[in-house]
Amino acid sequence: MQVHLYDTAEQVGQAAAILIGAQLLEKPSSVLGLATGSSPIPTYRELIRLHRAGVLDFSSAITFNLDEYCRISEEHPCSYHRFMKDELFDHINLKPENAHMPDGNAADLSAECARYDRAIARAGGIDLQLLGIGRNGHIGFNEPSDQFVYGCHVVRLTQSTIEANRRFFDSEADVPREAVSLGIGSIMNARRVLLVATGADKAEAVRKAICEDIDPDTQASILRTHPSAVFLLDRAAAARL
Ligand code: F6R
Repeated sequence: MQVHLYDTAEQVGQAAAILIGAQLLEKPSSVLGLATGSSPIPTYRELIRLHRAGVLDFSSAITFNLDEYCRISEEHPCSYHRFMKDELFDHINLKPENAHMPDGNAADLSAECARYDRAIARAGGIDLQLLGIGRNGHIGFNEPSDQFVYGCHVVRLTQSTIEANRRFFDSEADVPREAVSLGIGSIMNARRVLLVATGADKAEAVRKAICEDIDPDTQASILRTHPSAVFLLDRAAAARL
């Protein structure tokens, strides 16, 4: 595992965009695993800048997002569908049919999870997976647990995640309680994993992921066994290493 330290969240985003851009230049039809939340925003800004500057072309790329809340409309301002359009998809030349997200409104969510895993396999697997990390060490919505779950599954969000995500919603009661998330197996099967973490509120999760035993109570700790994992951290997130 590689760890790179930067002074600012913007530098973390630039470094992540360089690695994603290099992946795309090497293989224009790359399958990219994408994340939502605050952490990847500087990365997406830099990817958009490089696209507008004529450096990066997403026309052959395929993307799969990590997760989506259950039972909120795709057009809801807090849905991850909306987030991805606003923060990335509407600003690059990715073909809409190549941008995949789990359907948190599917009537049969178990069937939807199986369909999503099959779609990733059919695309040839994920070449590069971008991740944030939760304050509780989650990746995707794989919450602290006594086990690692392999495939895509429906997750009940923990109170800590509900509180962390409350900032995007009008009230805590509006935060969905369930989400569809890629499993740890799907994340670990990515050929490369890139985790971005910024800010002091991630320092403890980053310390546990990097310095303590591999333990499903800190789901990100499993990334230490990945053959090509890169952690890009700002000073605040790295403060307890
Ligand atoms: C988002 C996701 C989550 C976030 C994590 C950090 O798709 O899967 O694991 O990466 O909750 O969120 P932020 O970046 O908002 O602190």
